[in-house]
Amino acid sequence: MKRTLLLLLIMVTTGIYAQQPEANYDEARVPKYTLPELLTCEDGTTVTTVRQWERRRRPELMRIMADGEYGRTPKAKVKVRYEVVAENRQALNGKATQQQVLFTFSGQGREVKALALVYIPNHLSGPQQKQRSRVPVFIGYNFPGNHAITDDPAVRFSPFFERLNIDDALLQRARGMSRWPLSMIIERGYAVVTMCYNDIFPDNADGARQSVLTLFPENTDGDARWQALGAWAWGSSRIADWVCRQRWADAHKLAIIGHSRQGKAALWAGAQDTRFEVVISNESGCGGAALSKREFGERVGRITSSFPHWFCPAFTRYSGREQELPFDQHQLLALVAPRHLYVASAEGDQWSDPRGEYLAAYYASPVYALYGLRGLPSPSMPAIHQPIHNDIAYHIRAGRHDVTDYDWLQYMDYCDSVFGYGRHAGH
Ligand code: GCU
Repeated sequence: MKRTLLLLLIMVTTGIYAQQPEANYDEARVPKYTLPELLTCEDGTTVTTVRQWERRRRPELMRIMADGEYGRTPKAKVKVRYEVVAENRQALNGKATQQQVLFTFSGQGREVKALALVYIPNHLSGPQQKQRSRVPVFIGYNFPGNHAITDDPAVRFSPFFERLNIDDALLQRARGMSRWPLSMIIERGYAVVTMCYNDIFPDNADGARQSVLTLFPENTDGDARWQALGAWAWGSSRIADWVCRQRWADAHKLAIIGHSRQGKAALWAGAQDTRFEVVISNESGCGGAALSKREFGERVGRITSSFPHWFCPAFTRYSGREQELPFDQHQLLALVAPRHLYVASAEGDQWSDPRGEYLAAYYASPVYALYGLRGLPSPSMPAIHQPIHNDIAYHIRAGRHDVTDYDWLQYMDYCDSVFGYGRHAGH
């Protein structure tokens, strides 16, 4: 029984069962579509200034995306207690200080526990040393649990797995290390704070009952009620709250990174929480960076039936009816402006519609232009391994749906440039 549960969990987490062949992968079969206007308000006013964008159109779009796709994030605050439950000042061969920080969220007489795994560089070298007394930070969820992204036996199982009470052998310590090249990141002078996303909202149709949603007063938002993606985005902001209070962290240099379903959540977190200076979507696909109206790869009907617990119920109305959507994902991406946005795709990940991801970033560019910033220059995609690092950044790499060292190297080069470090400065 436990084995079946775990297998199911792995399948859901890796998307194995979701990928079925009926999706369209033929560019010639993409319908003619019209994207909803980015810079025209609901009352018809054309937005030509930053002030109009910030005062009118941006709040309008925030509401539209919340009510139609991700759900409304409750305004109520829940209590959070932080406790450093383990520390190792000589982690990664002395290169980093590792902390394990237990977050206890409480509300409505209940508690939810989540464990952050933190790596802080011990030494900075070269130009970094002069410029930094505090370090920039990558914040991002992991899928398989903290214990799976390192081979360090001192790293505890994420609370979600402890609740499942599965024996250690099944939990496969270190099986997800390749997506978190910790030494490489630390050597570049970045801290990393990660947490298993299941701690915040267990990723299954019944997950709400064990999630942070239970800490809030009864939800009366109906079809606009938040679910997993909203909760994951909210959780990233709680991680940022903690990071911003740390002496070692540069609160002005936070990057949020998310892969796939976590890329969707990272974009929604980045839209809402302006502390994220760089927002990175790694192959976030449908409901993330990809334009829904292209109907290419994964579609609304498919995602909302495979994962009914991710989006607010209103989004399911557009199953098979993408052309009726009153919004599309370029509008979500534009909500990150004037901060930095990085959208990345993989050639072998057509399920996520790389072209749709690129085009959404391209069509978000007019908002960057309002600020005098550089979005993407043309509707034609760059070649493989030819990143564009403007105020909106994009790359497509060879290979399958994954997070690779290549991806991380681009993200770090980009962040170096945005934060004004060393050889990549001059952005
Ligand atoms: C499935 C799902 C995608 C999601 C992916 C993932 O493939 O259909 O929408 O992005 O899983 O999170 O890996």
